[in-house]
Amino acid sequence: MADYVLAIDQGTTSSRAIVFDHSGRIVSTGQLEHDQIFPKAGWVEHNAEQIWSNVREVVGLALTRGNLAHTDLAAIGITNQRETAVVWDKNTGKPVYNAIVWQDTRTQAIVDELGGSEGADKYKSIVGLPLATYFSGPKVKWILDNVEGAREAAEKGDLLFGNTDTWVLWNMTGGPDGGVHVTDVTNASRTMLMDLDTLSWREDIAADMGIPLSMLPEIRSSSEVYGQGRPRGLVPGVPIAGILGDQQAATFGQACFEVGTAKNTYGTGNFMLLNTGTEKVPSKNGLLTTVCYKIGDAPQVYALEGSIAVTGSLIQWLRDNLGMFQDAPDVEWLARKVEDNGGAYFVPAFSGLFAPYWRPDARGALVGLTRYVNRNHIARAALEAVAYQTREVVDAMKLDSGVQLTELKVDGGMVANELLMQFQADQLGVDVVRPKVAETTALGAAYAAGIAVGFWKGEEDVTANWAEDKRWSPAVAEDERERLYRSWKKAVTKTFDWVDADVQ
Ligand SMILES: Nc1ncnc2c1ncn2[C@@H]1O[C@H](COP(=O)(O)OP(=O)(O)OP(=O)(O)O)[C@@H](O)[C@H]1O
Ligand SMILES: [Mg+2]
Repeated sequence: MADYVLAIDQGTTSSRAIVFDHSGRIVSTGQLEHDQIFPKAGWVEHNAEQIWSNVREVVGLALTRGNLAHTDLAAIGITNQRETAVVWDKNTGKPVYNAIVWQDTRTQAIVDELGGSEGADKYKSIVGLPLATYFSGPKVKWILDNVEGAREAAEKGDLLFGNTDTWVLWNMTGGPDGGVHVTDVTNASRTMLMDLDTLSWREDIAADMGIPLSMLPEIRSSSEVYGQGRPRGLVPGVPIAGILGDQQAATFGQACFEVGTAKNTYGTGNFMLLNTGTEKVPSKNGLLTTVCYKIGDAPQVYALEGSIAVTGSLIQWLRDNLGMFQDAPDVEWLARKVEDNGGAYFVPAFSGLFAPYWRPDARGALVGLTRYVNRNHIARAALEAVAYQTREVVDAMKLDSGVQLTELKVDGGMVANELLMQFQADQLGVDVVRPKVAETTALGAAYAAGIAVGFWKGEEDVTANWAEDKRWSPAVAEDERERLYRSWKKAVTKTFDWVDADVQ
């Protein structure tokens, strides 16, 4: 009996495979990290072949650990790090270059040139996004401009592009032997190439970027059968029936189906999405307009998104680049040794600043230092930075949508950090709520796939399965809360105008 649904979560730092049962509980998991490749300051790459091989391995691990066979699976959903661009040869299946990761800033010159005299908002009314290095389209242009022979091969129709959802789907469904070249509306909305109203590629924007339309995957809903697994994907015959970008998947898994509901995911970066329903809300305050999900033939639902590039990766940076501790959770132990930040503020503008500033010229800064400050204060400042950045996004959402949050649903690896969760509630002045299943990204993709094949009835099953685990309420005096935030805002201004012609 096919009693389970498998989700593949192809993330920025790792790939996971998670098997869920009908009640939305985790049955078994497999997880493998892949290499983070930093060839130059500001460049971030992944080896797409390593990612595909890890995906196969984690699927094998999850099935083995659950004592399951592929015949136990009703459907498979895929969720993924969005915007990370893979370009490959459809005849050989080989990528022509490493995947260029969403955090990579190498395309700044391309982005400036595309904007020309109209600037960063040139395509915003069509695609919902400002021109920025973050999105896939300019990364594809960089590959075609810089990899020898790539442009000719693309023009001959030999090259395919995809975010990693498309790369995994194509490989799972046969690769060079009949692989399905498809993406979903949420991933397509992160390329800068899709019209948010018609959900189709914009020929004029693709032409501006010199990207042949033949490279682009077909755009489909987030919940429908795209194809069947083939033997090389370890799941022969199982329908692959759901795709959602990781942040949209978490929104779905958190059951944010009502207009005005929101979730915040604390992973490599932080991403808050607010469901705005079937109405597309343009942002005047540094947020993105994006597709939240589209279930089969039902109308698409939109979201406002606040994207913060560096949160969990700041903790990794303290661990790996400074050697401050062995494991990410140790940061809490250090931070608890002190009462406060000792006056230190850490603005992690490692990829410039994303929402709500969109300042590519910013670089990271640790300010407010005196001889009093020690490593424990720095650990605390790093955690506080996550909460302040989130507050800035919440403020922008209030301005754009008029919606006043009454509580915030949270998920992602960092929500295990109780000091951070309490500080977040203190900074926002509303409750912070963690669900029982913190793997909401994978869960959302599983639901999208299961709904497509009738394993779940629809959104009502997702809502019924959602359960609260823990809640943090604000417990700080108003003047203290505002004093800290005012200092944070001042610290942010110290990171501006750093990058210039001589400094990258
Ligand atoms: N207890 C903790 N305290 C602070 N940070 C933590 C803690 N546990 C994990 N992290 C951070 O959380 C991040 C991992 O979270 P998660 O697994 O949700 O990431 P992710 O964004 O889903 O990864 P990917 O981008 O691969 O999908 C890491 O950056 C890690 O540094
Ligand atoms: Mg993730």
